[in-house]
Amino acid sequence: MAAALLPQLIWTFFSIVLYVIGAVCLAFIPKRFRTKKNISKQIVLVTGAGHGIGRALAHKFAQQGCIVVLWDINETWLEDARESLVLCRATVHAYVCDVSDKDDVYRCAALVQAEVGEVNILVNNAGIVRAKYLLELPDEDILKVFRTNAFAHFWTLKAFLPYMMEVNHGHIVTVASVVGKGAGGQASEYISSKFAAVGLHESMEMELRALRRTGIHMTLVCPGLVRTGLFEGAEYRFPKLISTLDSEQLAHDIVEAVLMNEHTVYKPFIANVAVRLKNILPHKAFDTLTDFSGAATMLNNFRGHPLETTPTFVKSPPANATPTAKAS
Ligand SMILES: *[C@@H]1O[C@H](CO)[C@@H](O)[C@H](O)[C@H]1NC(C)=O
Ligand SMILES: *[C@@H]1O[C@H](CO)[C@@H](O)[C@H](O)[C@H]1NC(C)=O
Repeated sequence: MAAALLPQLIWTFFSIVLYVIGAVCLAFIPKRFRTKKNISKQIVLVTGAGHGIGRALAHKFAQQGCIVVLWDINETWLEDARESLVLCRATVHAYVCDVSDKDDVYRCAALVQAEVGEVNILVNNAGIVRAKYLLELPDEDILKVFRTNAFAHFWTLKAFLPYMMEVNHGHIVTVASVVGKGAGGQASEYISSKFAAVGLHESMEMELRALRRTGIHMTLVCPGLVRTGLFEGAEYRFPKLISTLDSEQLAHDIVEAVLMNEHTVYKPFIANVAVRLKNILPHKAFDTLTDFSGAATMLNNFRGHPLETTPTFVKSPPANATPTAKAS
């Protein structure tokens, strides 16, 4: 037993060392010198494509010559996004889809498969936030956020993965958040739904590897606060960088990551450092750090999505909502 394990152990050890060296070397190669996939003529489906990151992503994929399929719940935004892509001479198809509704996802998926074809690149992007203290969150809101930000990913995967498995080719992108790897404050419904999306993403990675479908690549996106309006008014105290991401730049970085089959996109880079620190620092030490960064109170000035049609957010934090209040 032990004799059989030893060679494997040595092999595993050397593989780890080699992959670490490989990753370090790769980090120093400028992106323009890296080999990139040709995704021209591939069908890309982006959920939540009417607005923000999703809309920017649709444009960047169209620039790569992809056939883009837009899903959004809001017909006005969807039509606007579609028109802007048509103006850029992209091949585009748009569907009004409520991803929080399982049946609607399956209905729209069948329509896409019949009218456009099988999806090669799936981008699970649609997301909503309520951002209230847990006790102020109506049960229905918690369910709605989970249905949109997490459960929807199950339904789209179940709809589009069978073809990818069959041909052992494809790409799945999960637009999560840096809070999907480490909590912030006052948005438990959003943060936990992002943790769920990350958990699904990571288990799918293992599953695909176990099923030897290594031709299907996966990219997890963990950005800080992006200026799309979703988190209007929210801000980290330090570094400000985390709360000033631009959706155009982020979309560009995501598409680059897809072209290079990159595994994770952390934006800004400091977000990656924060997640790693969370895992190695003693928790009081990390608490001190989050208090300083303002992660627990970043939503104090949250004004809600200016375009959100659901009941408006009424902000009523406890009067003593300071970073240190959390530690007590
Ligand atoms: C990329 O793929 C498309 C469609 O498969 C093909 O027409 C095109 O020539 C390819 N481009 C390059 C640079 O290989
Ligand atoms: C879509 O968004 C627009 C602009 O914010 C809003 O006026 C409209 O009511 C929304 N439509 C739906 C169906 O949510």
